[in-house]
Amino acid sequence: MAIPAALRLAVLLGVVLSAAVAEIRFSEIRSDGRGIILLDEFGFTHRGRLELNVSGVALSKTGLDLAGVGFFLCTRDSWFNVRKQLEDGEITCALQSDSVRQVLTFDKLGQKTRYDTEYKQDDANQYALVFANCLQEQQLRVSMDVRSATYNLDGKSGRRDYLSAGKTVLPRVYFLFSLIYFVLAGLWVYFLYKKRLTAFKIHFFMLAVLILKGLNLLCEAEDKSYIKRTGSAHGWDVLFYIFSFLKGISLFTLIVLIGTGWSFLKPYLQDKEKKVLMIVIPLQVVANIAQVVIDETGPFSQDWFTWKQVFLLVDVVCCCAVLFPIVWSIKNLREAARTDGKAAVNLMKLTLFRQYYIVVICYIYFTRVVVYALETITSYKYLWTSVVAAELATLAFYVFTGYKFRPEAHNPYFAIDDEEEEAAAEALKLEDEFEL
Ligand SMILES: *[C@@H]1O[C@H](CO)[C@@H](O)[C@H](O)[C@H]1NC(C)=O
Repeated sequence: MAIPAALRLAVLLGVVLSAAVAEIRFSEIRSDGRGIILLDEFGFTHRGRLELNVSGVALSKTGLDLAGVGFFLCTRDSWFNVRKQLEDGEITCALQSDSVRQVLTFDKLGQKTRYDTEYKQDDANQYALVFANCLQEQQLRVSMDVRSATYNLDGKSGRRDYLSAGKTVLPRVYFLFSLIYFVLAGLWVYFLYKKRLTAFKIHFFMLAVLILKGLNLLCEAEDKSYIKRTGSAHGWDVLFYIFSFLKGISLFTLIVLIGTGWSFLKPYLQDKEKKVLMIVIPLQVVANIAQVVIDETGPFSQDWFTWKQVFLLVDVVCCCAVLFPIVWSIKNLREAARTDGKAAVNLMKLTLFRQYYIVVICYIYFTRVVVYALETITSYKYLWTSVVAAELATLAFYVFTGYKFRPEAHNPYFAIDDEEEEAAAEALKLEDEFEL
């Protein structure tokens, strides 16, 4: 797990720079001497708009040429251009470059302390809104409140769409996936009813996990569509967090419980297995709190970065912790297979648990690493594809878990004839050579 974790961090740093935030943003800048401040990033279509309202402007010095202080929009490519021009000495301030689009320079301000402007962005691309202060040498410090609203006008209706170009289909994507989970939950209820004699407690727990996942996606859909319409976050604020909270905790608990073989292999949990749960559940609570803070602060503040790191760390620990019970189960099953003569039965269970181990690793790897990588390499227009990829992987994981541990399949005690038993014993010998 060490390598994926490191890779993740590296990839995440890429994502920090590429995250497209879509809401109306308020930034308070207080006595700030930074040369460059990144305020927002947004994917514009051909009918993009930026509303910028600057108020309470206070400068630490007067009598300077304020053409060197102001806001501009630039794409990532043009930013490289600007950097090169600056290095080559062609320009002395990013605002002078012909590769950026000036939105407002402070010389327009005159004696006013507030300024409202609307900027039409007709070139479809992903732009960053940047504040530049080229009077650092004169030690100019700036205080102001910035409200920036970025949106695209809908082609037909002309309505405002506050979601970035690549994310505007997300409400529909989430809604569709939530429907799939509700259908799955329905199927699961039907299965549970049909096989009620072989259903264990854990199968009801699985139902709860499915329903929570569906509700969480439904809230996510509502949330995103609320942002799309209004530009501010969280239509179903509290519900949204409750469901994602419960979903996170229940999924990890489920993986641990299945991994231990609880209610399949044995009706109780060993002490060390309980300990894993006692680590994973509080960590999930922390991870969820971190997620809330991350959502609320947006990627350009200091808090965001700290909490993102907390989240990553906790998540990596949880992901590693859930693997232990599965490994213990596999070890126990291998020993049991060797000693109690019921090789075939145990081998079946062993294979099942080994498969489960691999699938959990794939699931963790895919949803944590591959999805971040996808997010960084896909064009801003197709950012939704990484969400679809993550949801498909999650869906595949749920379906696999449900199918492999469904009520009946999990009774591998039914008749196995002698030949099979011998074949299994043979296989088990080979098995010994396989090191986990
Ligand atoms: C911000 O500026 C725009 C464009 O001038 C204006 O239409 C809007 O009313 C302003 N909003 C606020 C909150 O001042």
